[in-house]
Amino acid sequence: MAVSSTGRSGRVTRFAPRIDALLREHRGADLFRLEADTIGVAGPELMDGLLRARPANAEERPTFKPVQGRLVTRADASALMQAVSADVRTALRKPLEPDADLSGKWPDVAHAYLRDLVFGRESFRFRVLVDRRLELTPKLTWMAVAAGTAMLGKPGTEIPLSNLAARALDAEGYRDRRYAMYLYRRVAAPICFTVSALVTNALWLGSPFDDEEVSNRDVLLEALRLLPPSWNILRVASSEFRAVDGRIGAGDDVLMFPLLSHRDPRLWEDPEEFRPARWRDLDPDDHPGYLPFGHADERCWGRHMVMPLAERLLDLVRRDGLVVSPDQTVGRVELDGLLEVADVRMVRR
Ligand code: HEM
Repeated sequence: MAVSSTGRSGRVTRFAPRIDALLREHRGADLFRLEADTIGVAGPELMDGLLRARPANAEERPTFKPVQGRLVTRADASALMQAVSADVRTALRKPLEPDADLSGKWPDVAHAYLRDLVFGRESFRFRVLVDRRLELTPKLTWMAVAAGTAMLGKPGTEIPLSNLAARALDAEGYRDRRYAMYLYRRVAAPICFTVSALVTNALWLGSPFDDEEVSNRDVLLEALRLLPPSWNILRVASSEFRAVDGRIGAGDDVLMFPLLSHRDPRLWEDPEEFRPARWRDLDPDDHPGYLPFGHADERCWGRHMVMPLAERLLDLVRRDGLVVSPDQTVGRVELDGLLEVADVRMVRR
């Protein structure tokens, strides 16, 4: 791993070599060839043009890509999102826990907190589907889904605890239930994975947040800029792209990098600096090249849940005086699906 950035906190972020190379070689570039059949794009107008050129296809969707070849209909997708949104709203109505202990290794601690908050009293067959260990291999996820499905009793014999689980229990027949369980995983797991990643990144970049004038919202917007969990957006080769830019060949996939546009010196003052206060004067929904939740035409369906859950975690951290351990000066960012700083040690001041 190479050292790539040093924040004002004095902490150093070490990116995996491929991410580090992207930052060193292509920051500030609009378009560059990554591989024989892949073009990288980080210019704001170009990303805007490409993402407008056509909607994401089924395989490109992060959450609702087909499940073992079975397409997820739009109706299913929006019913699932409504179910999980209701679960998150219920969770957010709970008062802040007076005795929460969020010290320890993040993002794991935050992940477990979110799982208990939103899906806490769910039975084991569902809880296991939001476990961090399942990330290791997709096969493991599939096995947990299959085992959980086989364990399900007849519909009606189990009391569903979340809206999301109720949908899975309602499904009839093994295949439909397995599909519903898999979708439970697809929708429930990101709540824990993405929100814990986002808040861990924010703490790494800026903790301690002693200045009460600095809002949680601005801290999160700035963390989404410098360390966006969703750091690239893929669109597979498509005829529409050539019309947007003649340098893109008919067979080229296009990989867009918010990670790069978020640090482009043409777009940001002191781009490498973690400065939440900049968001007092900027509009996150309309700032060129700022795409932590994707393009305006098809922005993340989960962001209205992500922000309040992340703010709740920050409220607890600030209330309880938790800080990144002063002994930890280096944080690793692996080449992984989600961009997150691994193993951040949070301690009471
Ligand atoms: C920090 C948290 C998150 C970030 C940064 C994030 C980012 C994104 C981005 C960049 C896209 C656009 C992808 C593209 O155009 O190819 C997207 C789409 C989407 N996101 Fe999120 N997301 C987050 C959390 C969530 C959560 C918790 C859920 C659901 C529970 C979710 C559900 C979706 C859905 C449904 C879409 C639309 C496309 C699809 O079908 O997958 N996101 N998100």
